[in-house]
Amino acid sequence: MRRCDELGRVSEEEGRLTRTFASPAMRGANALVGSWMRQAGLTVREDAAFNLIGRLPSAERGAKSVIIGSHLDTVRDAGKYDGPLGVLIGVAVAEKMRGQNLPFHLEVVGFSDEEGVKYQTTYLGSRAMCGLLAAKDLGRIREKGIARAKRAKREFLAYLEAHIEQGPVLEHVRAPVGVVSDIAGQTRIRAAFIGRAAHAGTTPMNLRRDALCGVAEVVLAAEKAGVIATVGQCAVEGGASNVIPGRATFTLDVRDVKDAKRRAACGKLRKIAAAVARRRGLALEWEIVQETPTAPMDAGLTSVLRRAVGSRVRTMASGAGHDAAVMSKVCPAAMLFVRCKGGVSHHPDESVKESDVAVALDVLARAVLELAKRHG
Ligand code: GLV
Ligand code: MN
Ligand code: MN
Repeated sequence: MRRCDELGRVSEEEGRLTRTFASPAMRGANALVGSWMRQAGLTVREDAAFNLIGRLPSAERGAKSVIIGSHLDTVRDAGKYDGPLGVLIGVAVAEKMRGQNLPFHLEVVGFSDEEGVKYQTTYLGSRAMCGLLAAKDLGRIREKGIARAKRAKREFLAYLEAHIEQGPVLEHVRAPVGVVSDIAGQTRIRAAFIGRAAHAGTTPMNLRRDALCGVAEVVLAAEKAGVIATVGQCAVEGGASNVIPGRATFTLDVRDVKDAKRRAACGKLRKIAAAVARRRGLALEWEIVQETPTAPMDAGLTSVLRRAVGSRVRTMASGAGHDAAVMSKVCPAAMLFVRCKGGVSHHPDESVKESDVAVALDVLARAVLELAKRHG
């Protein structure tokens, strides 16, 4: 808990926590967490994608890796647990496993980009490590060398991630932890309406081509699209209080556990936006920046977690994205959620109870020992 506090002060912005991909603050976070990893007896490196990797090596020849991971990047004005808690629980679990002679390397990974704040494209760190970056991703980022972080699939035995729930369900059912069944798919879109900037005082209402009014219609259409949909950023380029918006850019984040439903909603919203543009005399730009299908967690590994939790385990889908969605493409992956206060997340008020974190730590340690028995 003290480490979460300390890490929560490593920020690129004065007075609030913001740590984006490959920023000096992220490098600082890697240095700090790396020092804690070394104290726990791990050998530490940073890969070409700025992922921090601590390893408790196995003495067995040809051993694969069990990874406990989460991310060290944050949203803007973030809380201090979304991501870092899972990494620091991993460090604490690895410390407990020292001297256990595990039949696999135990790795703790702090991924560098789960939130996608810098480029609106998420999971750059985990996708680089798994060799799942597309040419399109590399085309839009400045850090071209990150593809070198790729590792062979055969190195990975299993992936476990602890993360705050970021919702209110565990608090409601009074459970300290729960397990995740699926991670909902997401589509991230970047769009813009282009109209004509003009004088706000002299142009009659019926003779305007106001780009922001187009965005307003799409925001309200997204609210009624029958999926989880959010316009989280919107900007009037070159805007001023006495100028009619000539160009308005916005983002659209669409999620659902059912991939077909998410895709259909995105198609419908694009049609609505095109119709709005025609009616208002605007041009429309629409770019799908990223699409991640729903990722089911591995049934076998999830049952290891369930047994480690004990009786009456709450299982739930995750509406938030997690690096486990990417890792599930290269090895069995499972996730443990930790109850958080009021379900609040992506906000500085994020809060967890120390006793719940202790439960999560204990569950993950028992799951690792169970895997050691199975693979020993
Ligand atoms: C990450 O937190 C996301 O799901 O947007
Ligand atoms: Mn987040
Ligand atoms: Mn997260």
